[in-house]
Amino acid sequence: MNDLTALPLPATADLLSLRKTVTGWKRQGLRVGFVPTMGALHDGHLSLIARAKEKADRVVASIFVNPAQFAPGEDFDAYPRTLETDAAKLAHAGCDLLYAPVASDMYPDGFSARLSVDGPARGLETDFRPHFFSGVAIVVAKLFNRVQPDIAVFGEKDYQQLLVIRQMVRDLDLPIDIMAGETLRERDGLALSSRNAYLSTQERGSAASLYEILAAFAADLEKGVDWETAQGKALAKAANVFDRVDYIEARCAETLAPLPGGKVHQPARVLAAVWLGNTRLIDNLPVG
Ligand code: PAF
Repeated sequence: MNDLTALPLPATADLLSLRKTVTGWKRQGLRVGFVPTMGALHDGHLSLIARAKEKADRVVASIFVNPAQFAPGEDFDAYPRTLETDAAKLAHAGCDLLYAPVASDMYPDGFSARLSVDGPARGLETDFRPHFFSGVAIVVAKLFNRVQPDIAVFGEKDYQQLLVIRQMVRDLDLPIDIMAGETLRERDGLALSSRNAYLSTQERGSAASLYEILAAFAADLEKGVDWETAQGKALAKAANVFDRVDYIEARCAETLAPLPGGKVHQPARVLAAVWLGNTRLIDNLPVG
């Protein structure tokens, strides 16, 4: 395990000291915000900390690369682990406590609970990563239980995840306000993501096309083009740029349910997942 005592902000991998600190804050009447992450922090994550600080008196961030949300053959081993630089960034962003548990503590031998989620988890990511949202739901439920936050912030970059967590919090009666943080982008439109570090120079050159394709798809829907035609155009453009397209779809913005055929008459969101080499990129934009 890394030496957390060397980090430049209060950091713990220990549940008891996490609980003691948060209980102390709550006794003082302070509101606690929480930003769960898998580390390899970039400005997008730090903007979530800033958002939490707007709404809470103290902010906890977690860093845990959650094995339960990776299938065999996915990038669990390759996922960048940069705990010390992450801790320094969090301290600079004004985060008050870093919780960095280890896998054997989160999932000790004999761990057997599963959380099955439906509703907004249906389709899109689930069609390609069927294990993903149950893995996210179990770890976020455990982290919520451990941190006991009043609010938690999730990035819109993972829009489906945001809606899945909102639904889970409603379903389980958890007294936590789930807030959305806007997607931060590079100058050419590429959404910030820890996985962008995997892109070669050539792939990085192509990656921003995802934003352009989604922006044109959303603009077509706003102009009243029926979604099937607009989606066909987006898929054809994506096929020219990307090595593989998992999906490019328009869905209901509130539930992620499929849209009725034809023109779009309700708040909608366009969402996509594509591949460049071994790197999977996801992104989404509001329509309107
Ligand atoms: O979005 C992420 O980084 C992860 O899915 C989360 C929410 C931290 C759960 O592991």
